[in-house]
Amino acid sequence: MASLLFNRSSPLLSTSLHIRAGIKALLPPSILSPSSHFRTFTSSPIPHTNTNPSPKTSTQNPTMAPSTAFLDALKARRSIYALSKSSPIADAAIQEIVSQAILHTPSSFNSQSTRAILLVKGEHDKLWDIAKEVLKGIVPADQYAATEARLSGFQAGYGTVLFFTSRSAVQKMQDAFAIYADRFPGWALQSNGMTQLAVWTALELEGLGANLQHYNPLIDQKVQAAWGVDEDWELNAQLVFGKPEGAAGEKAFQPIEERLKVFGA
Ligand SMILES: Cc1cc2nc3c(=O)[nH]c(=O)nc-3n(C[C@H](O)[C@H](O)[C@H](O)COP(=O)(O)O)c2cc1C
Repeated sequence: MASLLFNRSSPLLSTSLHIRAGIKALLPPSILSPSSHFRTFTSSPIPHTNTNPSPKTSTQNPTMAPSTAFLDALKARRSIYALSKSSPIADAAIQEIVSQAILHTPSSFNSQSTRAILLVKGEHDKLWDIAKEVLKGIVPADQYAATEARLSGFQAGYGTVLFFTSRSAVQKMQDAFAIYADRFPGWALQSNGMTQLAVWTALELEGLGANLQHYNPLIDQKVQAAWGVDEDWELNAQLVFGKPEGAAGEKAFQPIEERLKVFGA
């Protein structure tokens, strides 16, 4: 488990695996650069103090399909590992993004099982101190320097969103709909992942970079203690964000024909 976590923290791991599998890169270079951020929510309710210098707005083209701006945002979201401690938007705007994503992401039977904690500045630093402390006790001494460097990279960011699933919300569904009892934990994770994507994409639109980490369950107990987290909340993921200080890595794509079949169109 631990080795999986350490390996997955490598920004290029999945890319290099794809390349080894002989898959050709299809990504247009325009979306590899952080300067290609598209910002599309021109009527966002989010209180703005965005200083993101040159966002492009797909919605400005009246001939563009209505979904284009949304898909542009999906494409522009990438894993950004080089982050620093500032934000182009106010903390209140980040909080609003997380709130709206939690409220409006679907969940099975509308069970609303996702929970989150937003940590910025010193509280974000505290999280990554916790991760260092925990991992120091687990990782072989001769490998810890590399682990610490990786964790310091996350700590160099501005904030982290911790995503949780409410165990009792899942249990409630299992009790109410026994026929689907074994499905609810998976559905809760799917809904949690949708929320993660919504937050990640919205942060990118606002000029922040982010990457997704999974140091749970190793850090769960200390996270619970540090922020008084109810035991009902099971930690699923940590979305680290900050000012992007580098581009995303190259990304390879498996041919879409191997991944999507269409009938009747
Ligand atoms: C469910 C899931 C788990 C992931 N876990 C990790 C992780 O633990 N560490 C990490 O650095 N990236 C993690 N990632 C990020 C992926 O490696 C990354 O999204 C993928 O390689 C594609 O790159 P992109 O995000 O730049 O599009 C995860 C992504 C998903 C969807």
